[in-house]
Amino acid sequence: MDRKLSWIGFLATALIVVTLATIVLREPQRQITAAADLQVNKIAEGTDLYAENCVVCHGAAGEGLGSFPALAAIAEMDTQAIFNTVERGRYNTTMAAYGVDEGGILYDAQLDALVTMIQYGDWNAIENRVAALGLTPPEIVVAEVPEETLTMIRDLPDGQILADAVEWYSSNCAACHGANGEGTTLAPVLNSDELRTRLTDADLTRTIEQGVPGTLMAAWDAALSDDEVAGLVALVRRWDELENMGVQMVAVEAAPIDMSPEAIAAGAKLYSVACTSCHGVDAYGTALAPALNNSVFLSQTPDAAIKQIIAQGVTGTKMPAWGGRLSDADLNSLVAYLRSLESSAPPIVAPVTGIN
Ligand code: HEC
Ligand code: HEC
Ligand code: HEC
Repeated sequence: MDRKLSWIGFLATALIVVTLATIVLREPQRQITAAADLQVNKIAEGTDLYAENCVVCHGAAGEGLGSFPALAAIAEMDTQAIFNTVERGRYNTTMAAYGVDEGGILYDAQLDALVTMIQYGDWNAIENRVAALGLTPPEIVVAEVPEETLTMIRDLPDGQILADAVEWYSSNCAACHGANGEGTTLAPVLNSDELRTRLTDADLTRTIEQGVPGTLMAAWDAALSDDEVAGLVALVRRWDELENMGVQMVAVEAAPIDMSPEAIAAGAKLYSVACTSCHGVDAYGTALAPALNNSVFLSQTPDAAIKQIIAQGVTGTKMPAWGGRLSDADLNSLVAYLRSLESSAPPIVAPVTGIN
């Protein structure tokens, strides 16, 4: 009887020991799984924060839009350096400080999630998630460069550099400066003898790299390599040669804006919530911001440019960037609303734009 009990006791103890040993042995594996789950969760949280706050500048796939740098290639950057950049921003650039301690909106755990996403996320998956949330930034107007034109340009001395520059110009600069550098209401002429006489190559390089603070002219040094900037300087310098050859780029019209009564009504509603405080009732303007109900501004600014201004804001002014907060459909409806005012808009002779 006693022996039987002690046998049961022994067996029970042995069972406990074996079970404990198994648990202890499996612990590292469990920890690895838990760490992997944590990282997956962080990447998911970081992706949504990225979609809401960052895509308008850094692109849905981290490719960098316009003058803004790509993030897809910085996975190798030091973790702490990425954290510090997002927390504190970069002085004198549009990269704002996002950390709450720096006056921003994100807590340490959220910053941490963003950093994990930048380092370990899969940019294809991020792009799909951004699209699913309806936050893919709007396409920006580009000018089309036909292959024959590029072939013609390549035949010039140092033609390859010029041909590449024409392509960069068309996708990055044409929306504001015009397909052939003729200027628009948004930005001055780049293709003129006057400019070629007034500005040295060093002046052009500085303007392109550093931008003109307080205007729509951004700093491009983070987005373009030294060679690309040098190519653009060569293009501005030698534009007359292209003109003499009869080279003409054609501006691509963005897809037409939906002008249905529903879209206009949705835009009017959004306008009253987000824009009235600065641009005034019915967009007649206030002391804080210019009238948008203004026939000069509306007739001279294409839909895509209005959309770009609303999405990207105006650096160095109170005009916020809305692209991270509003969907593509929202931005379109705002353009539709503003466009609907055009036929009855009063002419205001000196519209306020980024050009001073
Ligand atoms: C309004 C545009 C804008 C938005 C929105 C924005 N950034 Fe930036 N970001 C920039 C610019 C411009 C730079 C380059 C600054 C410089 O020249 O040093 C930059 C740089 C960075 C860098 C450093 C890249 C490098 O190569 O050094 C990181 C990381 C970064 N941003 C992350 C973010 C994250 C994360 C968000 C969202 C929470 C965000 N950014 C939102 C404009 C923006
Ligand atoms: C979002 C609109 C916008 C885009 C895009 C843009 N620019 Fe500008 N650019 C401006 C504005 C506005 C000015 C005038 C700034 C001022 O008031 O001095 C300007 C000025 C310039 C000047 C100086 C002109 C002068 O007469 O002094 C050069 C050169 C220039 N831009 C080149 C470029 C190049 C090259 C690109 C493409 C990489 C580009 N810009 C993209 C808006 C833009
Ligand atoms: C906090 C104030 C403020 C708010 C809110 C605001 N804006 Fe602006 N907006 C400005 C200022 C200031 C300018 C002029 C910037 C400049 O000097 O180029 C401007 C310029 C613009 C321009 C370019 C006008 C031109 O003549 O070049 C458009 C378009 C615009 N805003 C649309 C909007 C829309 C749409 C909304 C709402 C989603 C909005 N803004 C909300 C302050 C604001």
